[in-house]
Formats: sequence, structure tokens, C-alpha cells
Amino acid sequence: PPLHTLLNLDEIEAVAKTQVSKKCWAYYFSAGDDLFSKYYNGSVYRSILLRPRVFVDCTTATTATTLLGHKVGTPLYVSPAAMARLAHPDGEAGIARGISSFGAMQLVSNNASQTPEQIVADAKPGAVFGWQLYVQTTRAKSEAMLARINKLRDHFKCIVLTLDAPVPGKREHDEKSNLESQAVVDAASNDKAADEKRPGGGGVGQQLFWGTAADLTWDTTIPWIAKHTDLPIVLKGVQTHEDAYLAAQYARKHPGTIRAIILSNHGGRALDTAPPAVHTLLEIRKYCPEVFDTIEVWVDGGIKRGTDVVKALCLGAKAVGVGRAALWGLGAGGWQGVERTFEILQGEIDTCLKLLGVKEVSELGPRFVSVSSSPLDLS
Ligand code: FNR
Repeated sequence: PPLHTLLNLDEIEAVAKTQVSKKCWAYYFSAGDDLFSKYYNGSVYRSILLRPRVFVDCTTATTATTLLGHKVGTPLYVSPAAMARLAHPDGEAGIARGISSFGAMQLVSNNASQTPEQIVADAKPGAVFGWQLYVQTTRAKSEAMLARINKLRDHFKCIVLTLDAPVPGKREHDEKSNLESQAVVDAASNDKAADEKRPGGGGVGQQLFWGTAADLTWDTTIPWIAKHTDLPIVLKGVQTHEDAYLAAQYARKHPGTIRAIILSNHGGRALDTAPPAVHTLLEIRKYCPEVFDTIEVWVDGGIKRGTDVVKALCLGAKAVGVGRAALWGLGAGGWQGVERTFEILQGEIDTCLKLLGVKEVSELGPRFVSVSSSPLDLS
């Protein structure tokens, strides 16, 4: 069907399923164990109510904001997700093209299927990218990657260090079709040297995690990254108020290192029954709200509607990421499918702001939501 006839993200996902290979679908769709966290990430937003105000002039509303001091057109961003070319030859560069008219930030996966140079080649001036790092057991490999990103700093404005998956979760959908996995990863991958050494089996996820370090610590990892780049560091995969507090404390003691955290359970793909980002947001609000004043707090997981995005912003998130939604857009129609996905979400955010009685995202706050009927209520 023509893209403009697709009206929501579920419809785009359904079309993508018919367009992409079975292997691609299984890899993107999959999550840990019983997929509880994957689905709860989304359904939990339905238990949070919005509190619209009336008699407010909302003829116009704007989503423009800043992230790490950079101007962006929207708090909505693309989460780092591996292997975009599995869905469509446009790949990660196609995602960049699809979101370019919205001024959205794009975080690029360590396991992207195109090189960072290719991905930013046609970027619009002012487009903001971040590079996601999985620290490799051979540290020199990661150091070489950081050196490459440092040279592209007109485009890449942060290093996103993913911490929630020192090992991949048990993803059964992905594993089921494991026979072809090595060939699939080799064909779409960016790292030919690693391809030759990768053992076979275990699904695309297991294949990609080969070579990833599981021994990172506060004391050693951040100073090492800071030695190899002065780009701000964003910690991805924080899931408790304790770790959010430690990140903020570290940021205070070592200015110029950690500038943001992403509350995420990896789209449910790591530890199943780990909490959704809004749960951690509420924990931070209750136990260590000063975190919001020290570092930016971004969230991802389960975003399907503009109202989901607005609720996260109300609870203190500065930015909200989509992982699978961007990939499904790509699968449904290449870069134009990504553009349609963002058009839908941005349209829903705009409608939501106007119906709430809000003209810009900086006005959003806890007074616009009610969590008292939610299982998340921590009061
Ligand atoms: C991911 N995610 C991810 N995260 C990361 O830091 N590095 C990566 O390479 C990947 N790869 C990846 C592949 C695929 C297919 C998916 C679906 C996800 C996790 C991603 O950044 C994000 O946290 C989740 O996707 C957010 O959840 P939703 O939006 O997919 O529900």
C-alpha cells in the first residue's frame, strides 16, 4: 500500500513484516525470554493518564528543543540499532535521510551495516548524530573507532556507551533461524576482519555480540574513553535510580565526561522483566531528583504513539528514542518509510501538545500526567 495510507506505527510494522526477510523480521522483532519487558515497555504508557488544560491558545505548538546544547527540531530521536541494511539497502544512511526534515538526532549503532562516513555523507548542515560504542575485548579496535569518529565531529556530537547488554539476552525468535545467521551478518556487516573469526550459530544477536567486552567498570572504562575522545559520553541502559545517581555523581566529579544517561532495557532484548524506562524515571523523581539537574535523562523502549513521547517528557525525559519503529519504517519503504514513520509520530506529538494546552515542550511537567491509577505509582 502507498505509505501515505498508513496511519500509525502498527500499520507500518505490519507492512514491513511482509517486505523484509524472515531472518530480518525475527532479529528485529525478537526480545529476551518471554518478551515481557518488550511489551510492558509499551503498554505501561497506557496506564499513565494525561491531564489536559483548557482555555489555552494553542493555535501553534513547537517541538524544538536542545540536546547536549545542540538545537534539534524534536525530542524524538533514533536509537542505535544494528544492521539496518537487513531491512532495506538504504540502510542507516536512509534513516538519516528519512528523518532529515524533522531535525531529529540519530544515534548510530556500533554494529551498523554502513560505515560512519557513508552514513553522514549526505547529512544536512546542523543534523546531530551520536556514535554508539560496544567496547571490544580488543580495546585497540574501539580506540581506532573513536579516532575515526573524532574526525567526523562536524556530525557526531556524542559517544553512547551501551551498558545493559554485556552479553545478549536469550532471544528465541532470533535463535530459531540460526543456521543462516552467520551468512546474514557477514553480508550486511561492516567489519570484515571480525566476520572471518566469528563462530557460527546462535542467531544474529549472538553473532554480533562476538568480541564485545563484559568487564566494564566505572573506575576504568570512562577514563579510558575520555582519554580517546573529548566528545560527551552518554550512558545507555541505566535501569535503576542507584545507577542514575552514580552517573550524576560521576558527572559532577569529572566535568566534561558523562553528560546524559539513557534509561533503557534495550527494547526488552537483554534482561527480560527488567523495568521500562518510565519506571526508572519515576524512581529517579522519588529518590534522587537532583539527577535531572546534573545530566540529561533520555529514554527509549516501546514508543508507538505521540502521547507516549509526551508522557515521558512530562516525567522528566529530555529526549525519547525509537528503535524498532525506525527499522520497520525502513523495511516498509526505505528512507521514505522512515520519513512516513516520523511524520506520523511528529503529527501525533503536535496534536497531543495542542490538546494538552501546551505550546512548547519545555512547558511539559508532572502536572500534565497522572500516574495514580498506574501500577508504577511510587508515591
Ligand atoms: C537494538 N538496540 C541496540 N542498542 C544498542 O545500544 N546497540 C545496538 O547495536 C542495538 N541494536 C539493536 C538492534 C535491534 C534490531 C533492536 C530492535 C534494538 C536497542 C535500541 O537501541 C533501543 O534501546 C530499543 O530498540 C528501544 O526499544 P524499541 O523502540 O525498539 O521498543
